[in-house]
Amino acid sequence: MKKKLLALFLGATMAVSMMAAPVMAEEATEAATEATTEAAAEEAAADTAAAIDMEGVDVENATIGISIYQFSDNFMTLYRTELVRYLTEELGFKEENITVQDGKNDQAEQTNQINNFITAGVDVMILNLVQASSAPQVTDMCNEAGIPVVYINRQPDEAESDRWAEEGIKATYVGADARQSGTFQGEEILETSTGGDINGDGKVSYIMVQGDPENIDAQYRTEYSVKALTDAGVEVEELLLQRGDWDQARGQQIVQDALTQFGDQVEVVFCNNDAMALGALQAIQAAGRTVNEDIYLVGVDALSEAVQSIIDGNYTGTVFNDHFSQAQTAAAMAVSFLKGEDVEPVNMVDYVKVTADNAAEILEMIQ
Ligand code: BGC
Repeated sequence: MKKKLLALFLGATMAVSMMAAPVMAEEATEAATEATTEAAAEEAAADTAAAIDMEGVDVENATIGISIYQFSDNFMTLYRTELVRYLTEELGFKEENITVQDGKNDQAEQTNQINNFITAGVDVMILNLVQASSAPQVTDMCNEAGIPVVYINRQPDEAESDRWAEEGIKATYVGADARQSGTFQGEEILETSTGGDINGDGKVSYIMVQGDPENIDAQYRTEYSVKALTDAGVEVEELLLQRGDWDQARGQQIVQDALTQFGDQVEVVFCNNDAMALGALQAIQAAGRTVNEDIYLVGVDALSEAVQSIIDGNYTGTVFNDHFSQAQTAAAMAVSFLKGEDVEPVNMVDYVKVTADNAAEILEMIQ
């Protein structure tokens, strides 16, 4: 059941355009509704994995080098687990031919790992860069060595992906358009009974807990969550914007301090991911505040603890950052490269809004 539903999201992947975030938002909601209701669609999508044609791929011997920016990241742990599972269990690559490294949030360390992959002569790399801005240098290293590279999760800038297409470089990116997740967060606040203005003073006063601001996901979620409110004609007041680097303990500390400083003025806590929002929830509860009564809280990722908290009424909403489809698409891109095929430079997976309306279904799907 789980795999079938997830594969449906994968099916939607390739059609998504970078330029259509607000439209995508609606489509994704519709797709999610359909996904949970249409058995026929499930069946069709279940074949997605099987549809990856492995003919011409030497699965017994092909070697894959993977580096994740930091193993301790909650979301990337889910992603990495699915990536290795899919490559081995579904596509038949040998576990001993797949090397997965921890970049330890240190670009120099990760570049070293990439150099080691080059020396070892891996057939393809899947890289979650510590710093997306390193992509031009890393791409050149891999290209000179004749090794294709699939970037995941941290998107190199457009000039870089354009260069791959123009120069025929074997590099691609798989991710999700963070404008969509930001927009969904804002919509979740608009859809509450007060539209976010709990104290009825005519404006929504919020604090923003940001991921690593070098990361486009953090930039876009910060911008588009608030934009959804202002686009709807809602007045907003930013009480605080602080970087929490995607980390739960940082999120807790920031929100604890903010609640001490701003007290009841805080109506909404936007967090760029669920790890920080789960930290925020601890701070909110410790301050004696009640989510969905006197404060709203939204995150991104759909970590199971966050989705459970929505069901329990302690969390306003999150956005499913579909690590299953992203991992499977990344694997599909690696396979295409192994077959010598050209691929699109940018491949996006849809996000899905998660609120009390669908949290139980989403939880069942991700567990
Ligand atoms: C996720 C975060 C994660 C980050 C890592 C984002 O897409 O939402 O939870 O920490 O990627 O780069």
